[in-house]
Parts: sequence; structure tokens; C-alpha cells
Amino acid sequence: MSTGTMKKSHSQWSSRMGFMLAAAGSAVGLGNIWKFPYMAGQMGGSAFVLTYLLFMFLIGLPILVLEWLIGRRGQKNPIHTMEDVAVAEGHSKSWRWVGIIGVVGSFLILSFYSVIGGWATDYIFIAAKGSFDGASGAVTQQIFDDFRGNVSHLLTWHTIFMAITALIVALGVGAGLERACKLMMPGLGILLLILVGYAAYASGPSFGVACEFLFSPNWSALNGTAILAALGHAFFSLSLGMGIMMAYGSYLGQDVNLLSTARTVVILDVIVAVLSGLAIFPLVFANGLPPAVGEGLIFVTLPIAFGNMAGGAILGILFFIFLTFAALTSSISLLEPTVELLEEKTPLGRKAATITSSIVIWALGIACLLSFNLWSDVKLFDKHIFDLLDYLTSKIMLPVTGLGTVIFGAWMMNQKRIRSELNLSPFWFGVWTLLSRFVIPVAVIFILVYGLM
Ligand code: PFF
Repeated sequence: MSTGTMKKSHSQWSSRMGFMLAAAGSAVGLGNIWKFPYMAGQMGGSAFVLTYLLFMFLIGLPILVLEWLIGRRGQKNPIHTMEDVAVAEGHSKSWRWVGIIGVVGSFLILSFYSVIGGWATDYIFIAAKGSFDGASGAVTQQIFDDFRGNVSHLLTWHTIFMAITALIVALGVGAGLERACKLMMPGLGILLLILVGYAAYASGPSFGVACEFLFSPNWSALNGTAILAALGHAFFSLSLGMGIMMAYGSYLGQDVNLLSTARTVVILDVIVAVLSGLAIFPLVFANGLPPAVGEGLIFVTLPIAFGNMAGGAILGILFFIFLTFAALTSSISLLEPTVELLEEKTPLGRKAATITSSIVIWALGIACLLSFNLWSDVKLFDKHIFDLLDYLTSKIMLPVTGLGTVIFGAWMMNQKRIRSELNLSPFWFGVWTLLSRFVIPVAVIFILVYGLM
């Protein structure tokens, strides 16, 4: 990849591969391994899963391409990229609001993401202590409940996770992270395959039940809530609607093929999510556990496998190490927009900007962490703080920003130039136009209104 168009001082892609790994690193995270299975469990399985898959390719992929394309044009932070590209195309600077909502969204998401990242990190040590040895579902549930009720414990791990995130961001996302991604991402894939294999072997007929639960169409379970959740999760999972992919695109050379790179990232992201579902649900059904337990799913069910399989102790430790790493490659991408903005708009240097924003995000994370114990009764709009933050960001802010991006890209930008930039044949340009101008905006508006009502 040419480096001629790279102008920022942080996280420069050394190659197309480096860029793809960083983008995939941001996309693949807790969303795939922790959130996707528990949402599928709560939303009735297949109807949610199939809708999510459809949205990933029909809505997520084009918006991912547009975010990169706009970022590559603007070559600045998301807010000023939107402003500059809008002015260059002859429109109002107000389009910067797409970038502003995105940056605020990334800030809010990181506050709860770090709490769950802390859980993953702590579970490395819980696994290493042998706590899961021979454990039944009741035992792993008890471990999880005790752990979630322990405020100082959760605070310690939230602090550690946020500190590691801040440290990496303060140093700059350089070759170290790219190299680590190259090692850890394939490792995570292999590990997930082993777990799926174990689930298939150990749970007997429950594997078939799980496949049916996840994939056999059961459209009667589909309602507005599930459709909105699937849309929100497609955005969350691909790190869309937060200006992050726009920022990543700003380090890109013209020679990178956006469509084929986006296709690879979406496919990787989907594979990790589906494999996680296939590793977890057979065990859920084989152990007679309910699929709809929510956020605890991965922390309660997988440990049953680790505690009862040969070599499970080591696998458990490795799994939570990889989960932590997948979370970190996403959390640094979540911190980046806020840091970049502070760095550009205040006298703060990169380190001070990182420390300042991390402290504010960390403090907000404490409120979120308390919602699992001391503040579990504190509710706003009938949701505790963690749920409220998740709802506000995933289901409202991300789709709204994504909508702004696609309307801008499809209606405000010169389409001939986009066509040549994406190198589309007349047929595929027709498909692209239909999707980006009509299908995606109408679908997103409809789902937002329908889901929110
Ligand atoms: N895509 C990440 C995941 O699935 O865990 C989470 C995430 C990262 C969301 C970055 C948004 C974002 F901008």
C-alpha cells in the first residue's frame, strides 16, 4: 500500500494487511463472542440470527465501504472529515454532526465495554485457579454471581482494562499491535473451532438442537424489538456509526480496494459470531440451561466445558486471554476518536489527552459497573445504567449516525467519482445505487421508528 496519503502521527498502517487486521481487530470483539450469543438467546434464536446476517451484508457492508471512502477523502478526525468533505461537495458544514454523534457514541460505549473487558481479563485468573474443575452449571453460575456482586473486584478489573487500553493508545497503535493481531486473531479462530468441536462431541443431540435454534427460520419470533436489535448489533459488530472506520479510512492509500477489503472484514466478523454461537448453545441445551440469561451467558456456560473436558483448564485460560485481546483491539479503537479530538482541539498533547478522556470514561464505567450490584434498582426509562447505555448507543445513536453517513454518501456526494473509486461495473453500480440511495435509508428509518415504538 502506498503511504503517500497517510498524514497522521498515530496508528499508521504499514500495509494493506495491517489495515485489514486493525479493521478486523476493531470489528471482532466482545460484540461477536459475548454479545451476539446472548442476544440471539434472548431474541429467540434463528429469526434474530438470520436478520442480523442479512443486515450485515445488505446494510453493514455498504456503510463500511462508505465510512472508509469518506475517511480516505477527508484524511482527518471524523468530525472534520465530515465537515471538509461536505464543503468540498458543496454542502453545509452541519454534516459534521454525523461525526459528533459518532465520537460521543464511542465514548459512551467504551465506558461499558471496559467493564466487560475487565470481566474477561479477570476470568483468565479465575480459570487459572482451577475454579471450573468439574464444575456444573450451578457452580459456574454461582462463581459468576459472586464475581458480579463484588464491587471492589469489578472496579479493580475495570480499572486494569481501561489502563491497558489507555497505555496502548497513548503510545500509538503501531507495529506492535498489528503484529500482535496477526498472532492473536488466527489463534482465536483456531480456539473457537476447537470449542465448537468439543460442543459437537460433548453435547450429542443438543448440537442439532442448537443448530436449529440458531439457523432454522422461525419467523414468528421476529418482532420490532428483535429487528431493531439485529440492526443495532450489525452496526455495533462492524464498529459502524462511530466514526471509527472513517478514522481508519483516513490512513488509507488510494490503491486499497475498499469493496473486497470490506467483504473480507464482514465475513470474518460473521464467522467469529456464528462460531461463538455454535460453541455455546449446544452446551446450554445439553446442560438444560435457559438460552435467554443475558450478559452472563458466555461466563457461565463455556466454563462448564472448560471444567469438564480434557485439557479444558488450559483452553479456558487461553480462551479468556484471547477474549481479552479481542476486546482490547476494539477498545483502543473506541478510545481513539475522543483522544484525537482532544489532541486537535485543546492544548493537550497525546498522552494528556489520553489520560483525561480515559479518566472520564472510567468514571462513567463505574456507574455502569454498580448497576450489576449496588445500583441494580436504579432505573431510568425502566432500564439500569448498563442497559440504558447499551440501548442508547447500539439501538439509537449508531443507526442514526449510519443513516447520516449513507444519506450523505449516496445523495450528497458525486456518484460518478464514487463509481470509479469503487471500480464498479454498470450492473453493480446499479445495485449499489439502489441499496445506498433507497433500500438502506428506508430500511433504517423504518426499523428505527418501528423498533422504538
Ligand atoms: N465491534 C466491536 C465488537 O464487536 O466488540 C465493538 C466496537 C468497537 C463497537 C468499536 C464500536 C466501535 F466503534
